[in-house]
Amino acid sequence: MPNPRTPRTYRVKSFGCQMNVYDGERMAELLADKGMAPAAEGEDADLVVLNTCHIREKAAEKVYSDIGRLKKADGSKPLIAVAGCVAQAEGEEIMARAPAVSMVVGPQAYHRLPDLLDKAARGERATDTDMPANAKFDVLPQRRRTGPSAFLTVQEGCDKFCTYCVVPYTRGAEISRPYKDLIEEAHKLIDSGAREITLLGQNVNAWSGENAKGDAIGLDGLIRELAKIPDLRRIRYTTSHPMDVTEGLVSVHFEVDKLMPFLHLPVQSGSDRVLKAMNRSHTAESYLRLLERFRAARPDIALSGDFIVGFPGETDAEFEETLKLIDEVRYAQAFSFKYSARPGTPAADMDGHIAPEVMDERLQRLQAAINRDQLAFNQASAGKTCTVLVERKGKHPGQWLGKSPWLQSVHFTGNAAIGDLVAVELAEAGPNSLSARLLEPATA
Ligand code: SAH
Ligand code: SF4
Ligand code: F3S
Repeated sequence: MPNPRTPRTYRVKSFGCQMNVYDGERMAELLADKGMAPAAEGEDADLVVLNTCHIREKAAEKVYSDIGRLKKADGSKPLIAVAGCVAQAEGEEIMARAPAVSMVVGPQAYHRLPDLLDKAARGERATDTDMPANAKFDVLPQRRRTGPSAFLTVQEGCDKFCTYCVVPYTRGAEISRPYKDLIEEAHKLIDSGAREITLLGQNVNAWSGENAKGDAIGLDGLIRELAKIPDLRRIRYTTSHPMDVTEGLVSVHFEVDKLMPFLHLPVQSGSDRVLKAMNRSHTAESYLRLLERFRAARPDIALSGDFIVGFPGETDAEFEETLKLIDEVRYAQAFSFKYSARPGTPAADMDGHIAPEVMDERLQRLQAAINRDQLAFNQASAGKTCTVLVERKGKHPGQWLGKSPWLQSVHFTGNAAIGDLVAVELAEAGPNSLSARLLEPATA
C-alpha cells in the first residue's frame, strides 16, 4: 500500500512575473521527473504548489485566501507547498499562520522540493529558503516540453535596491547563469518545439559571461550567439534596466533580424525628484535619450514600460510629469501599478503616503493615456505585413492566435498549425489585438 500522503498528481499555480512562471515550469518538470503526473484540467491534484509573488500587497495576501480555499472534491485538503517570493520573504509566518501548508520553498531552493515532499509524506512540515546562487540549475532535470514560445532565465536577482521594491530581498543578488548552460538549455527548448525564446532576468541586460572562445560578452553577445541556431526563429528579452543598457544592446537590435523589435524598459515615473527618491539611477531625460538610441537602431521598435503612481510624496505636478513622459514616448503597451508599501523597504517608512482615492484617480488617468497610445500603435500597424508565430487555436473553427514581432496578439483564420511562423497582413486593430489575413503557408 502506498502511503496515503504520497502524492501522485500535481498542479503548479504561478502568480508572479515571467521568471516566476519559468520557475513554475521547472518545478513541474521536477515533479514529473519524480514520477508524478500533472492533474487533469478540472480535477483534484494531490499536491498543489502555490508559486507566489510578493511584489505588491494584494499579490502576497492572495496566498492566504488561496490556501483557505484549496479543497478536494471529497472535502479533504491536498498537500500544499508554498513556493516563490512570498515563501522567501515570509516563510516562517506562512508556517505559523497556515497549518495546512506542509512545505515552504524559496525561489533559489526549489530544486530541493523532492526532499521536502519525502518529509511531507512522513507528516513533517519543512521550510527551505536558502539562497545558493545557481545551485538549482545544476540539478534540475532537462527541459522536455514546451510551447512554440519558451522562457529561458539567464539572469536572476537584483542589486539596484529601488526604495519601493522587495525583489533584491526575495531574489537575492544579481547572478548570471553560465553561457554554456544557456546555449545547452536553448538547444533543449528548441528540440522540444520552441521557435521563440524570451531571455528572462529581473535585470536581464545585466547578464554577463564568457563565450566559447573565452571572450567576455554581455546580453547582446548572448543574443548574437543564439541567433546562429537555425531552428530558433525569434529572440526576445525582458526585463531590462536603463542603467545596464550598453551600446552593444542598442546595436544588436539593428544587426540581428531574429531579435524582435520590442523593448520593455521600465521608467516608473516622469519626475526626477520622484525617480531620485525611488533610487532609480536615471532621470526622465536620460531615459528618453536611451529610447531615442533604440529607435535610431530599429525605427519600428515597440516600446513598453512600467509605472508606479502614488509613490510617497508624489505631488499632482510630479504625476503630470509622468503623463508628459508618456505623451512623449507613445508606448505600444505598458504596465502600471498603484504604489504598494512593502514591509522592510525604505519607501515604506517615507513621509507623504498618498491617499488611495488619489492613487485610483492617477492610475485611471495614466491607464487612459496608455490605452490611447496602445490603440494608436495597433491602428498604425494595420496594413503592415509581418510574421506571426502561431501559439494556439482560437475560439472559432479554423482560427489561430499568435504574436506579431511587436508582441501584439493577432488572430487569423486559415491553414496553419501551432508552432508555424506564418506571413500575414495585419487588418483590423482593437485595443488589445489585431485581426490578420494569412498571406502564405507556413514557413516553419
Ligand atoms: N526589475 C524590473 C521590474 C521588476 S518588478 C525593473 O526594475 O524594471 C515589476 C514592476 O513592479 C516594477 O517595474 C514596478 O513598476 C512594479 N513594482 C515593484 N514594486 C512595487 C511596489 N512596491 N508597488 C507598486 N509597484 C511595484
Ligand atoms: Fe525592483 Fe528596482 Fe530591482 Fe527592478 S531594478 S527588481 S524595480 S529593485
Ligand atoms: Fe513577484 Fe518575485 Fe517576480 S516578487 S514579480 S514573483 S521576482
